[in-house]
Amino acid sequence: MKECVLVTGGAGYIGTHTTVELIEAGYDVVVVDNLSNSELAAVEGVRKITGAEIPFEQADCTDKEAMSRIFDRYKFNSIIHFAASKAVGESVQKPLLYYRNNLDSLLTILELMRDKGVRNIVFSSSCTVYGQPKVLPVTEQTPRQPATSPYGNTKQICEDIIRDTVSAHNEMYGIALRYFNPIGAHPSALIGELPKGVPGNLVPFITQTAAGIRECLSIFGDDYDTPDGSAVRDYIDVVDLARAHVVAVGRMIQGKSRSNYEFFNVGTGQGRSVLELVAAFEKATGVKVPHKIVGRRAGDIEKIWADTSFANQELGWKATRSIEDTLASAWAWEKHLRNIK
Ligand code: NAD
Ligand code: WQD
Repeated sequence: MKECVLVTGGAGYIGTHTTVELIEAGYDVVVVDNLSNSELAAVEGVRKITGAEIPFEQADCTDKEAMSRIFDRYKFNSIIHFAASKAVGESVQKPLLYYRNNLDSLLTILELMRDKGVRNIVFSSSCTVYGQPKVLPVTEQTPRQPATSPYGNTKQICEDIIRDTVSAHNEMYGIALRYFNPIGAHPSALIGELPKGVPGNLVPFITQTAAGIRECLSIFGDDYDTPDGSAVRDYIDVVDLARAHVVAVGRMIQGKSRSNYEFFNVGTGQGRSVLELVAAFEKATGVKVPHKIVGRRAGDIEKIWADTSFANQELGWKATRSIEDTLASAWAWEKHLRNIK
């Protein structure tokens, strides 16, 4: 019989790509999402790519009764928990929304796992837990730093809640994946990122500028201590990231975890500047992106990239897609959304 995985937030950007990879790896998947930051059409996209039925439950992960019914209706032993609010700036304006949604969702799921004997959870964490590290690249041993936003704080608290829960309930296992900067879209261009309003993240802003929806990309700062002065990040292709989840679930199911709680950096190991990314986009697509240098964005860190050797060795996982292919996929998705030929 096939193993089944419950994917919360499975209609979202990373959840849809992960669902595709899970199905292609032979898992059954049940998707739960309250559609607060996504559309049902995204699940349709996943069904189209995979040809699989994929049960979808519209429910809020903080609703314990609704979630309990879902736990009873389907037989799964593993959960990938994406459901969360994720906009850093908004979290500063609406901290209670972020603490309520992100913490309550996780607590509800963990309590149900404990009560109903569901053993494995993969959690979406973030490189934001490292703040601006003193030494680069960051390894999993690099200390976390006090969070600079309520959003970042929820990721740290959620990691700790999982660690404490699985160490108290020895039959349970948890893996936190600390994503660096996920970008790109599925090669089919049937699923991708759906930012609401003016994009806060770099790549959706680049693709919208290339599409003529935005006039000009503002590059936030060219006076950082980096080779070209613009800030440096580790941009990870969303399909590579999705595959890391499949490996993490398999590790727990196959009993390969070294301890009840583990955490891994999920990046490429390569830092790229904002200017480099714009140049790579133009090279990959042949489309020019009008841009100008403006001042630094408040709260931004200067540079971060991952040491991925632990994830590479332990998980046997490695990012494989080239930055050009990734940026071309982001452009193909933007064109699909806007009906551009
Ligand atoms: P997303 O907003 O596209 O997906 C999250 C999904 O969760 C959405 O479909 C939303 O409707 C749903 N959701 C939110 N709260 C819910 C609730 N209470 N109950 C049910 N569904 C709920 O975001 P994403 O980029 O796919 O991110 C997925 C996860 O990865 C999040 O936990 C996010 O914090 C984390 N993460 C994202 C990034 C990134 O840059 N995208 C980086 C690091 C970590
Ligand atoms: C990347 C770089 C900007 C927009 C955020 C969250 C982090 C994680 C990933 C969830 C930065 C620059 C951007 C623009 C620009 N998410 N930029 N012009 O800030 O690294 O990380 O998403 O966990 O927690 O903070 O990503 O895509 O916003 O920015 O110059 O219009 O692009 O200054 O250097 P960031 P980003």
